[in-house]
Amino acid sequence: MNFADSEIVSAILTKEHFALTKEIGEADFILINTCAIRDNAEQRIRKRLHELKALQRQRQWVKIGILGCMAERIKNQLMEEEENVSFIVGPDAYRQLPTMLQNVNNGEKLAETLLSETETYDDIDPVRYDTNGITAYISIMRGCQNYCAYCVVPYTRGRERSRNPYTILREARDLVDKGYREVTLLGQNVNSYRWKDNESEVGFPQLMEMVANVSPLLRVRFATSHPKDLCDDLLHVMARHDNICKCIHLPVQSGSDRMLKLMNRHYTAQWYLDRIDAIRRILPDCSITTDVIAGFCTETEEDHQATLQMFRQVRYDYAYMFKFSMRPNTYAEKHLQDDIPDDVKTRRLEEIIALQGELALENNQKDIGKTFEVLVEGVSHRSDKQLFGRNSQNKVIVFDRENAAPGEYIKVRVTRCTAATLIGEIVK
Ligand code: 5AD
Ligand code: SF4
Repeated sequence: MNFADSEIVSAILTKEHFALTKEIGEADFILINTCAIRDNAEQRIRKRLHELKALQRQRQWVKIGILGCMAERIKNQLMEEEENVSFIVGPDAYRQLPTMLQNVNNGEKLAETLLSETETYDDIDPVRYDTNGITAYISIMRGCQNYCAYCVVPYTRGRERSRNPYTILREARDLVDKGYREVTLLGQNVNSYRWKDNESEVGFPQLMEMVANVSPLLRVRFATSHPKDLCDDLLHVMARHDNICKCIHLPVQSGSDRMLKLMNRHYTAQWYLDRIDAIRRILPDCSITTDVIAGFCTETEEDHQATLQMFRQVRYDYAYMFKFSMRPNTYAEKHLQDDIPDDVKTRRLEEIIALQGELALENNQKDIGKTFEVLVEGVSHRSDKQLFGRNSQNKVIVFDRENAAPGEYIKVRVTRCTAATLIGEIVK
């Protein structure tokens, strides 16, 4: 999401005659787009700010700005504590950046953090920098109002709002024309996508269908879905279109009903497993990935075992696994206690990671011998004689390059694997 937002910021600024540089030593302004989801994300930014002081001693005119969720969350604190920060801009205020950069050069310290109920940056064509020219993100909605008890996002990104579908289609078409071959539609909860005018109403399954119809050459992915809203309609749309990738990211967060209730997730473990059954039934080839939190408030050993059990039952292809981090202003911070000792959180997280490592390896081993259509993304990091790409399931496949080139679709047969990567050969 931040990556996509930075592309919007670049578009807003380059339109007003600012230019991007890849060399930080050349920059007159340094904009740091931040995340507030866990405390360690914010600590990393604090450290980065500290490191930038040396550069600012040499280039004293350089102004540093903090953008994004951390700016939204603690603007006053940042202004007071970080003397080398000159401007602060929340996620809905990026249009004001050009004016702010002018004014900040006159010596003012500035902050714009008002959240909007309507801003979607609809009309802005993101500047795709730092891109492989093949895969791109399209932000389709902003904000979240699910208020999971642990989560800071509703407070930093504001209320849900969906973008006009015709501007999304225009962006997708434009990407195909420029040679892109894959888009990921982004939102905090894409299943809540809903756009309405006097004539029509578009929900997420319809939007997916519209984007899939843009071009057979364009693959479509999406993230993230909230399990409570994952409907069969979407699964049927995915089944109907070969170019909609068969991969669903479905954050479970915990396998324990008691934890799920306390987290305000609006589903039980059984409901979640029923959704997994629906995916397996309607999309037999679909990969499933998840997010999970270890050590949320009051989590017992039994709750933790329920999470491990959930992992064994679903057999995820990939998981983003986190230790619970108490975030200010959330329901958890106001009403619960961060009562699981850090060493217990760490141990539980390690157990989940170890189990997931085994499951991912077993899942990948089942792919040995299969042939997949792969979109080639680039040269492998290990050897320039090899390329890498992804299959529809979003698994990375590495193979000898032969005559293939980035941007092409090719068939690759899997011959070996690790827990993280499939290794194969091009099928002629
Ligand atoms: N502590 C740890 N992980 C968190 N996440 C969200 N808030 C927290 C928190 N306070 C995780 C969730 C979410 C992912 C993006 O980050 O798993 O799905
Ligand atoms: Fe946070 Fe829950 Fe919204 Fe995801 S759905 S952004 S975890 S509040």
